[in-house]
Amino acid sequence: MKAVIPVAGFGTRMLPATKAIPKEMLTVADKPLIQYIVEECIAAGIKDIILVNHSFKTAIVNHFNTAFELESLLKNTGKLDLLAEVRRVCPPGVNLIQVYQDQANGLGQAILCTRPVIGNEPFAVLLPDVLINEYACHLATDNLAKMLQCFQQTHRSQIMVERVPCNEVSKYGIADCGAQKAEAGYNMPMYNIVEKPSIHEAPSDLAVVGRYVLSANIWPLLAKTAPGIGGEIQLTDAIAALIKHEAVDAFVINGYSHDCGNKLGYMKTFIEYSLRHEDYGAELKRWLQQAMK
Ligand code: G1P
Repeated sequence: MKAVIPVAGFGTRMLPATKAIPKEMLTVADKPLIQYIVEECIAAGIKDIILVNHSFKTAIVNHFNTAFELESLLKNTGKLDLLAEVRRVCPPGVNLIQVYQDQANGLGQAILCTRPVIGNEPFAVLLPDVLINEYACHLATDNLAKMLQCFQQTHRSQIMVERVPCNEVSKYGIADCGAQKAEAGYNMPMYNIVEKPSIHEAPSDLAVVGRYVLSANIWPLLAKTAPGIGGEIQLTDAIAALIKHEAVDAFVINGYSHDCGNKLGYMKTFIEYSLRHEDYGAELKRWLQQAMK
């Protein structure tokens, strides 16, 4: 199965940092955000990864391209650990495919740009400003891999959801699963989904948090999805249409997500991931405790 990562957005919520640097290239601890997402795909067994890009965001392509000059410099100066690290960014056998989105017209339209590459096949979507907490029990791998496994067994699309505070529902796609309650890491049928409802209209507090495994039947529905909220073509609206044709599941996140698409969320994520860094986490924690006094 192929995965789609839409990276064409301007990252306006992160300005001025994102004026010349793609938001996907902002680092969390010591790696760019996009690298976490690509590693999540690889860990779940996905090797064909499509980036829906914009021509001004060349830094993302460069990050994954082979850096011949840098590699020979590291080799010639005996910095073999660094050389191995640079080579791990895009391991052999992983294909990163670029597709360009000529006009920004919503997540749905970004996904639609990949239709000629994916064909009439199911696919996964990972939104690059959401990190799935991977530390507590290797969750990033477990979540996406389990969503893929559920899809393979049932052919039902899997949409990752997480409970959010009621006053935040208008920032997300919100799922209606009636009175059902699935455990973390399990799924339940979704009856409807609404993009960014008001607190009064929201059918629940189950927010869609940026991981989808979608059946190929979404394609024709996506192609005829009219602009929705914000005047943009919303993936959520195409999923709502899909639910009318076939069963779709909400997959309850095992762990928690980090929203790195806004400044506070990004800062929190940076600190949390840095505190867990293998080499520097313990020292950073001591320093932080001192600095907080
Ligand atoms: C997008 C989706 C929304 C989802 C959210 C998760 O919204 O449209 O359904 O809940 O990502 O981060 P955006 O954050 O791009 O406005």
